[in-house]
Amino acid sequence: MPDLEAILLVGGQGTRLRPLTLGTPKPLLPTAGVPFLAHQLARARSFGVRRIVFATSYKAAMFEPVFGDGAAFGLSIEYMTEETPLGTGGAIRNAAQALGSPPDAPVLVLNGDILSGHDIGDQVRTHVAGQAAVTLHLTEVDDPTRFGCVPTDGDGRVTAFLEKTPDPVTNRINAGCYVFTRSVIDAIPEGEVVSVERQTFPGLIESGALVLGYADRTYWLDVGTPAAFVKGSRDLVLGRLASPALPGPAGERLLLAGAEVAPEAEVGGGTVVGAGARVFAGASVSGSILLDGCVVEEGAVVSDSVVGAGARVCAGAVLRDAMVGDRAVVGCHNELQAGARIWPEVELPARAVRFSSDV
Ligand code: GDD
Ligand code: MG
Repeated sequence: MPDLEAILLVGGQGTRLRPLTLGTPKPLLPTAGVPFLAHQLARARSFGVRRIVFATSYKAAMFEPVFGDGAAFGLSIEYMTEETPLGTGGAIRNAAQALGSPPDAPVLVLNGDILSGHDIGDQVRTHVAGQAAVTLHLTEVDDPTRFGCVPTDGDGRVTAFLEKTPDPVTNRINAGCYVFTRSVIDAIPEGEVVSVERQTFPGLIESGALVLGYADRTYWLDVGTPAAFVKGSRDLVLGRLASPALPGPAGERLLLAGAEVAPEAEVGGGTVVGAGARVFAGASVSGSILLDGCVVEEGAVVSDSVVGAGARVCAGAVLRDAMVGDRAVVGCHNELQAGARIWPEVELPARAVRFSSDV
């Protein structure tokens, strides 16, 4: 395949991942030990992408210090910033000013929060062979109401695009990876707030343009919620999804530089122990992300959770499906469950006594 250009949408606020995203944009959150985007960049490169334009807005200045000109990733990276967020379509149109592709060339567009095992090269070939305006990667999920619902006809032609509808007509959804014919991007109004999901795609379908679906059932995950973010990291560490950004699956756990795990601690299930983080004897950690410099003390239990950088989970505390912000302290014997979130620097006092009604 000839060199392909891509636009990466990374301007969202990552609201559902607060407090992690208060200081770091979602695409830069450490995932299996590297910034999330490293996985998408390496994967795009493996399918022939050589030049990527980042469409930034929220915390825009934080991207370039991490990815630079892209040379370390075998890519050339450009940064285009919206002063105020222009929505997905406005962001694509704005970023397209930095593209060199001619009007009839395919351009890849990626949501910046997706882990996917699909064959991008095959999606591009489907687009080119079908002479489509846009070709959407589609996947199937149990709950399509949280996504763009995308019915197709027997030939793979997209017949409607229903963003976050309460009445989905199929479980097949927009997986957030598009091939656009360049001229179709140029037709999006410039400098305006536009949603591809609510305006561009429905408009193209309405006008009779050919919008194709590229459906498959490989690994797919939008890491935009706490549970999904933790799952994505876990799956990469365990090798459930191979990432060219990693040397290989780490196995049960990934220990970063200077991480210390006491021999009597149990750490597994795809957990990442961040640089300089410490897990004390008798602690049990599974399927979780321990960020740099955090501490999990004796007898604490942490499962499917995120412990922020420099945070402390004190002795006997229990975290299940919880997120603890940077430098926060969860005092002894507290129990945080089912989506509980602690904001950065907050200190939960110890619970000195455990009541018989506690479970
Ligand atoms: N530059 C820029 N400007 N980027 C934006 C903006 C903006 O104004 N708004 C959103 N983005 C980026 C986000 O950073 C993210 O990478 C991507 O666009 C999608 O935004 P999300 O906020 O993650 O959307 P979603 O997950 O609710 O829904 C989207 O993705 C689903 C698949 O995961 C939609 O495209 C759905 O149709 C789709 O099913
Ligand atoms: Mg998303």
